[in-house]
Amino acid sequence: MKIHNFNAGPSILPKEVVIKSAQSIINLNKSGLSLLEISHRSLDFLEIIEKTTHLVKYIMNLNDDYAILFLQGGATLQFAMVPYNLMNQEAAYLDTGFWAHNAIKEAKKFGKVNILFSGRKKNYTCISKNYQIPYNVDYFHCTSNNTIVGTQMNKFPKTTVPIVCDMSSDILSRKIDFSQFSLIYASAQKNVSSAGMTIVIVKKDILGRIKREVPTYMDYQIHVQNNSILNTPNVFSIYTSMLTLEWIKNKGGLSILEKENKYKTKLLYDEIDKSNLFENKIDKEDRSKMNVSFFLKKKNLEKEFNKMWKKENIVGLDGHRFVGGYRASIYNALPLESVQFLIEIMKEFEKKFS
Ligand SMILES: Cc1ncc(COP(=O)(O)O)c(C=O)c1O
Repeated sequence: MKIHNFNAGPSILPKEVVIKSAQSIINLNKSGLSLLEISHRSLDFLEIIEKTTHLVKYIMNLNDDYAILFLQGGATLQFAMVPYNLMNQEAAYLDTGFWAHNAIKEAKKFGKVNILFSGRKKNYTCISKNYQIPYNVDYFHCTSNNTIVGTQMNKFPKTTVPIVCDMSSDILSRKIDFSQFSLIYASAQKNVSSAGMTIVIVKKDILGRIKREVPTYMDYQIHVQNNSILNTPNVFSIYTSMLTLEWIKNKGGLSILEKENKYKTKLLYDEIDKSNLFENKIDKEDRSKMNVSFFLKKKNLEKEFNKMWKKENIVGLDGHRFVGGYRASIYNALPLESVQFLIEIMKEFEKKFS
């Protein structure tokens, strides 16, 4: 049975990644042991973590100025870890979505937060490009893709201030100059792996500048010194991300994925834009190429539409509970065929109800 999986996260992964990670649970590399049974300090696992680190750097074109960490606690822990490690006095944030807002709430516990732009009053349907980053802040924080409403940053500011970016929902989906960032974090459960692991990519020279004491697990420097095995990491999620990174490398890298993602989302946005029944509320230039949100213009048709797509084995199309409507998450692994299928269903619905 073909299922079309539009879940926002945890979400669709490449089929071969799911198959290989399932096999590894039974028998890892013909060792007779399950991936779940090996020591995180064994040679087998050290090889896995080294390979995964290398693949992140290779695919994102990053040099050894950067350390790659595989931590736990989700992106939510990073909302606190970033200011804990980087904020002496003040930082600047863009309030572009619900997750950005949560990051700001955490940062306020550590110092002064300059909010350079807030889209909150406009329900986060746009992202400003006209903001000035104060030269004296410790860092500037932004969210590259706002998963809940479906907006995405297309440009990042030129600044001498370290840029920190939450890339949880669009990491590895497009080719950008990753060396413009001093710190990138992304929880793995969208484009990379299973839940329970967060990739942190940190430029080592921004660490060690703060005055406060940091608890051991919250200290990036300690994780860097311990190559992400200070304590027992999420072995399964790291292994699965290695498989996804290999899949990306074999496909030809991020520029290929970027092209595919642009094409897939353009098809869907075009369909929404020409439809009488559906609408997208995001400023066109800020539309996400990962999460396409849309609404029925007549709310009373929702029941009928829900019945229709659910019957067709489409899953995960409900909008986030904060905003309602619909959201098609079109991550790297979602096949073009699923987008085309959804469009067919929308067309059929239109024929019946417009
Ligand atoms: C952009 C963004 N940041 C942060 C989070 C929170 O991630 P986690 O649940 O891993 O803490 C999410 C989750 O969907 C997200 O989309």
